[in-house]
Amino acid sequence: MPIPDIIIAIDGYSSTGKSSFAKLIAKELGFLYLDSGALYRGVTLYAVENSMIDDRNEVDVKALAGGLPGLDLHFENGPGGSLTYMGARCIEKEIRSLAISRKVSPIATLPSVREYVDAKLRELGRRKRVVIDGRDIGSTVFPDAELKIFMTAAPEVRAMRRMKEMQAKGEDVKFEDVLDNVRERDYIDSHREASPLAKADDAIVLDNSGMTLDDQMVWIRQVIAEKFGTE
Ligand code: DC
Repeated sequence: MPIPDIIIAIDGYSSTGKSSFAKLIAKELGFLYLDSGALYRGVTLYAVENSMIDDRNEVDVKALAGGLPGLDLHFENGPGGSLTYMGARCIEKEIRSLAISRKVSPIATLPSVREYVDAKLRELGRRKRVVIDGRDIGSTVFPDAELKIFMTAAPEVRAMRRMKEMQAKGEDVKFEDVLDNVRERDYIDSHREASPLAKADDAIVLDNSGMTLDDQMVWIRQVIAEKFGTE
């Protein structure tokens, strides 16, 4: 039986490999992959370029909220998958920079920004057959998503993965510092006022501490087969 028209929500802690997993599931099922973090990053780039956030991460909330209705962030298909665009401009590379990563947290806590991103995601999700990753997709944005996964892994395992990623980019980092950062981000993500990271009651927990991406695909195929009676 083919897979029905569903929404798959993948939430969880940072550095659990949500986006790699979500992309692979989307590819296998022929679904659209939506990266909610990319939209928060796109809004952050917009705020930076329009001097709406300063060096101390103080945000001109009013100016930003005023600009959001005219901000065209969307995804387009590129050679390596979906790419993030601001109007006609591809911003995929800029939004992954360290400068944006450092500013995205305060931007993502603003209710006006969360409303903007949620509205975009709901519009894109209306067609179903999407895999969306984030922090609050199953709990807030799509509480009726047919399949919700909540990803977690031991902080030490996530810190090791992150350290390897950073070292591959030529950054010289100490394990203890990366581990501290992982713990700090867990705390901020789980304790912020607007839409904190939270497991939806009906989400299935995936602790991938000892799993490869292949192991996770075997796991999800089984979950989907059991839940939707597909082969
Ligand atoms: O997944 P990411 O690192 O690209 O996310 C960027 C930021 O956006 C991160 O600080 C958490 C935030 N975010 C969020 O608050 N809610 C989401 N649904 C997705 C991301």
